Amino acid sequence: MADTAQLKIADKTIELPIVVGSEGEKAVDISKLRSETGFITLDHGYGNTGSCQSDITFIDGEKGILRYRGYPIEQLAEKSSFIEVAHLLIWGELPNQRQLDEFSELLTAHQMLHEAILDHFDLFPSNAPPMAVLSSVLNALSSFHPQLLEIGDESTFQAAVARIMAKVRTIAAFTYRHALGYNIIYPHPDKKYSANFLHMMFGQPYKEFDPDPTIVRALDAILLLHADHEQNCSTSTVRLVGSSEANLFASVAAGVCALWGPLHGGANVAVVDMLETMVEQDLAIEDFVSQVKDKKNGIRLMGFGHRVYKNFDPRAKIIRGICDDVLSKLSISDPMLDKAKELEEAALNDEYFVSRKLYPNVDFYSGVILRAIGIPKEMFTVMFAIGRMPGWIAQWYEESKFTRIGRPRQIYTGEPERDFTDIEHR
Ligand code: CMC
Repeated sequence: MADTAQLKIADKTIELPIVVGSEGEKAVDISKLRSETGFITLDHGYGNTGSCQSDITFIDGEKGILRYRGYPIEQLAEKSSFIEVAHLLIWGELPNQRQLDEFSELLTAHQMLHEAILDHFDLFPSNAPPMAVLSSVLNALSSFHPQLLEIGDESTFQAAVARIMAKVRTIAAFTYRHALGYNIIYPHPDKKYSANFLHMMFGQPYKEFDPDPTIVRALDAILLLHADHEQNCSTSTVRLVGSSEANLFASVAAGVCALWGPLHGGANVAVVDMLETMVEQDLAIEDFVSQVKDKKNGIRLMGFGHRVYKNFDPRAKIIRGICDDVLSKLSISDPMLDKAKELEEAALNDEYFVSRKLYPNVDFYSGVILRAIGIPKEMFTVMFAIGRMPGWIAQWYEESKFTRIGRPRQIYTGEPERDFTDIEHR
């Protein structure tokens, strides 16, 4: 393959370098386009724009492949843990036993919150959206760690990572309990990451929460499956904010805000809303699918479709299996799961979805599992944020090695120059 592309534009022909990634992905490097021709590219929604070169996560959307640092997601979900994968994403390699122990000890050491942070929870109304609380408190953490606002070396980075990874889980559980008016359950020094989260959510001062290992494993796998997904909306937000040299706390807080929307992380809530409505109103699958297909209704089949996957989202396949395990372990028969399966089958056999290559994504079944575990719907997107934290951190760190602020351009379509009109003449 040629190593340049030619572009003929305004009577000028220029050579643009071709960049090829380690899995054969190809890009035309347009970084000199404007300086050499005066043109920019226009790509609303960035469907054709590579914003960076990255070593972290590989997706082949046509084949339904997802790998973290080269490891297939299926192998990681089966054999690894969320904390091992966090280490892999952030530092590039799976930890050996010593590294894993050290990382776990650091997380234990930093899982408490400064008592003054607890006052922040009192200032939110009890019905505050948990994503608002999470992003605010994560950002507020920056004021408690002034020594970590500038990451000059690896040990400062490690200290910031440990604080954010450990405390995000504590903040999430406290948010839930505070909204219900429950007392706060502090993290347990001997419990591992996911078990500790469940302990803080559902424990009592007089009684430890001791869930079935299938539940702990399911939660850990859900976090692991959400841990990174290359340049999605929230990750691109984290990188863009970080590119201004904003600190890690502020950057991941911005990631939480970007994740909140129903087209991104908020889809896991939207899926359960949709399934609940279908069950409550006893909506026939064919009727609902017809409503979705009729664009004037403005209804989407939530949990379906993906910008990158034009095939099964590999995470959805794994999550569907976990869903069956959890529900059978807990002997739960959930009509929502039946609806979800019927809906999936109907959509996968319907020309509308087939021709547009719309398949179930990670959010289609995750809500059913979280519900079975006892996590309320309002907390679903927070769970996604806890899972995505190592990915945001890894991507932020990678971005911090570049020194150029992210700053897209635009094509202005507003009024041409006009003279100011005094108020009495408007
Ligand atoms: N239901 C019905 N039609 C859909 C759906 C859907 N879920 N998704 C896409 N389409 C249609 C869309 O109307 C368009 O049709 P047409 O070609 O006739 O105009 C076509 O498929 C292409 O859609 P698009 O909007 O150009 O696709 P996109 O890449 O911009 O959007 C998406 C991707 C994920 C935002 C979209 O598929 C969607 O809204 N899905 C539902 C929300 C959802 O499940 N989001 C979670 C995504 S995965 C986890 C995450 O990233 O957070």
